[in-house]
Amino acid sequence: MTIMINYEDNSAKFADYIRNINSDTHPGYMVKTFGCQMNESDSEKIAGLLETMGYISVDSEDKSNFIIFNTCCVRESAEQKLFGHLGEMKKLKAGNNNLVIAVCGCMMQQEGMAAKVKKSYPYADIVFGSNSMHLLPKLLHGVLTEHRRQISVFETAGDIVEGIPIVRTSSVKAYVPIMHGCNNFCSYCIVPYVRGRERSRKPNDIIKEIEQLASSGTKEIMLLGQNVNSYDGGVSFAQLLKSTGECEGIERIRFMTSHPKDMGIDLIEAIRDIPRVCRHLHLPLQSGSSRLLAKMNRNYTRDEYIKTLETVKKMIPGIGLSTDLIVGFPGETEEDFLETLDVLGKIRFDFAFTFIYSKRKGTPAAIMDDEVPDEIKHERFNRLLEVQNKITLEQNKKNIGMIETVMIEGESKTKAGITTGRTESNKIVNFIAAGGMPGDFAQIYITDAKTWHLEGEFKSWK
Ligand code: SAH
Ligand code: SF4
Ligand code: F3S
Repeated sequence: MTIMINYEDNSAKFADYIRNINSDTHPGYMVKTFGCQMNESDSEKIAGLLETMGYISVDSEDKSNFIIFNTCCVRESAEQKLFGHLGEMKKLKAGNNNLVIAVCGCMMQQEGMAAKVKKSYPYADIVFGSNSMHLLPKLLHGVLTEHRRQISVFETAGDIVEGIPIVRTSSVKAYVPIMHGCNNFCSYCIVPYVRGRERSRKPNDIIKEIEQLASSGTKEIMLLGQNVNSYDGGVSFAQLLKSTGECEGIERIRFMTSHPKDMGIDLIEAIRDIPRVCRHLHLPLQSGSSRLLAKMNRNYTRDEYIKTLETVKKMIPGIGLSTDLIVGFPGETEEDFLETLDVLGKIRFDFAFTFIYSKRKGTPAAIMDDEVPDEIKHERFNRLLEVQNKITLEQNKKNIGMIETVMIEGESKTKAGITTGRTESNKIVNFIAAGGMPGDFAQIYITDAKTWHLEGEFKSWK
């Protein structure tokens, strides 16, 4: 079942109400996002709800009437960071009676966490989990009218709520969640516990959202899910990609994250055959040791992974490949680690996100023996980076002398006058081009390659 909510109906009334308590100006809000793309996508919905209620986005805490922390808990370090931030809110709140503080997101779904925030941070007015975002207007209304704290955390993930307004951070690139939750229970990972079981959005709802995006000028979409290739909305993920590829105006389609165990030939063919689907695949390996992969409950072996990617490379020459890797999983030996390095050498990923294993309470790995000592974890992490960075640079250098189609994303953040964009394979390219706007496509001759980006010369607009 899908719930449809029409926020337009009572938004005007509520916006009036809020304007009355802040008569000179619209109240300001800040959303602080700590997690993955799905977390960012949730923040865009929170912004959508707040703007529908009359709030406007501001760039400083002092100007804010509402500050919300959208948390992540995939690694342990996040907790201390959040508590630090919340601690700082005490002073701010003391100086501003109108300030409402909210905490939401995955960490609030962790057992006991909402209660802990409630107890230790009495000035946190609203606490809600990933499954109750659509209740934000009601919770905020409760705080403002009844002056009572509002806590809304559901243990089980509910139905998908459609129709929440969205304020997107980019006008040319957009996240489109296609499914929520995860059924995989990798033994190190907390996500299935906090996000619940897999639920897929209906293809019609997804396509409608993409068509709306296209009509408002979006050029690139990123289909999001913890495990997109197990999408099951009545059609397969490959079929969904096909319908997405027919949406006029969308030039590029990306998706993440795919799971190696669900990497069927139909998906590889879809990437190869649907022109708008980018030739880039993010496929988390985690470890190159079959022994550890089994302990991680990943459901594939080292050889199966390598075989899958060999097929991908053969069927789609030039495809960009990236991965996620964890070092220091319980029981990881030097031999296991060397196997990971060996796979890196064999596959030659263009990019890898590398993580040091972090123990998450409540997951099977948290009670496994033989933890890897911190110094060894860090030492392996550094070696891993060294090996992968070298490969990344070598892979980037292969682009030198080639003409790439680049979608402009904006001005370089670090260098004035430099335009930055991405290739289809997801590599960042910096170049000088007069007059280009985000979302424009340019032909760029690649002149140089660094570890984190390519450099090029503008040739023509597409
Ligand atoms: N569903 C996606 C994303 C999960 S979180 C996927 O399966 O790929 C993103 C990455 O964080 C994971 O791929 C993994 O590499 C890393 N990660 C998850 N739990 C972790 C933990 N406990 N310690 C260290 N890294 C972790
Ligand atoms: Fe976590 Fe594994 Fe699910 Fe990814 S697939 S979210 S790593 S349990
Ligand atoms: Fe994402 Fe972190 Fe939640 S990685 S799914 S925000 S635990």
